[in-house]
Amino acid sequence: MELWGGRFRESSDQRLADFTRSIELDSALAEDDLVGSIAHVHGLAGAGLLTAAEATAIVAGLQDLRAEVAAGSIAWDPDLEDVHLNLEAALAVRIGPLAAKLHTGRSRNDQVATDLRLWARRAVTRLDESIVGMERALVGLAEREGEAILPGTTHIQPAQPILFGHHLLAYVEMLERDRGRLVDARRRFNVSPLGSGALAGAGYPLDRAATATELGFDGPSANSLDAVSDRDFVVEILAAVALGMVHLSRLAEELTWWSNPRFGFVRLSDAFSTGSSMMPNKKNPDPAELVRGRAGRVIGALAGMLAMLKGLPLAYQRDLQEDKAPLFESVATYAASLGILAGLLDDLGVDRARMRAAADEGFITATAVADELVRRGVSFRVAHQIVGRLVAEAEAAGTGLADLDDATFRDALAGCDDPAARALAGEPPTPRLLRAAAGVEAALASCDVVGGTAPTRVAAAIATARQRLGV
Ligand code: ARG
Repeated sequence: MELWGGRFRESSDQRLADFTRSIELDSALAEDDLVGSIAHVHGLAGAGLLTAAEATAIVAGLQDLRAEVAAGSIAWDPDLEDVHLNLEAALAVRIGPLAAKLHTGRSRNDQVATDLRLWARRAVTRLDESIVGMERALVGLAEREGEAILPGTTHIQPAQPILFGHHLLAYVEMLERDRGRLVDARRRFNVSPLGSGALAGAGYPLDRAATATELGFDGPSANSLDAVSDRDFVVEILAAVALGMVHLSRLAEELTWWSNPRFGFVRLSDAFSTGSSMMPNKKNPDPAELVRGRAGRVIGALAGMLAMLKGLPLAYQRDLQEDKAPLFESVATYAASLGILAGLLDDLGVDRARMRAAADEGFITATAVADELVRRGVSFRVAHQIVGRLVAEAEAAGTGLADLDDATFRDALAGCDDPAARALAGEPPTPRLLRAAAGVEAALASCDVVGGTAPTRVAAAIATARQRLGV
């Protein structure tokens, strides 16, 4: 008969045991469960429910179990439903009937809520390290190849030249926000449900603040009903992880395009590429594709968790057991994705010449030429028209903007030299000035604002990022 089976006359159907069991998954909570139990024993002793000798004996048994869990030598019994019942039974095997006192003033409802928060805290710490690792890889690549010039795009069309380093640092910004979201989540979830009992609060004078402190929580939860049924923290972590995966997926998408020979901007190392079972020519960016694909699964985990919660009345409902699969899987997926992409970037080859050649297509310095006209006193809308005409001329002639002849520039500039503008801007626009502005390097250098792609700005941004990451 199960630990909860006192009122039952018949034993349970095997299908019920199979259907309700969670040990396969929640054994991952074993360390947290034991740590929580040790704090609970201290709470029980403090409330006069255990003698000092009893508390010492139970804690010793729990510590032995911790060592066994760490060594991986615990044999989980599938007939014991979950990690909580397994560990309680294992404790009884080791210390005898005294183990029956452990579950005083506690329910698996506050127990699992406590365990999962402890697990989440560890997970968030590990994820932060993985995100930092990925940021280091991005910054490392930016240092190594960041001066490469890339045709920046909007609408997937050539737009303006940017430094490759600037592009990589955009991801560093995203990843820093991803770190922040996990920190925010932790701030809210780091409270202790222990002592909430099944739903109404434990029926003994447990010092919940003391057990909270012992477990590293910021304090005890304020409402027992909320404490046992709140899984906001699972949603918040999943949301942070899903958005983090979306960011990785965007980079993964870019890597798949850039490594296509048509682009040829980057080359994945053999160590991070896969071949085809049929086509001997293939070298595929599978890790990037799998990151992109798994982002979909993590988004699904978040949606599934929200859907699971939306119909639950207070307090604990067994549905909540279903929180673990999406949380565990998503956290593992995110950590693995950060790890594989960091390795891939560390090994990434960059073809600066191919990037630079692409930057010579698509008239991507047109905006810089229009900006130069504005600096010479022309209104931006008029400048836009003039340069638009120059682009059309160059396109028709099959040349770049800087290759247009003086006559074409002068025709386009007719009427631009008005005295008021000259007073404001000095030298009027000339073909020479516009040709200079049409150079890719000049266009880059002109974006010299905070957050812009001018090389000095990017160098400073890399230095700031390095400092933040301690590299
Ligand atoms: N395995 C359960 C879970 O993860 C533990 C709590 C079960 N509580 C209960 N009253 N059946 O949610």
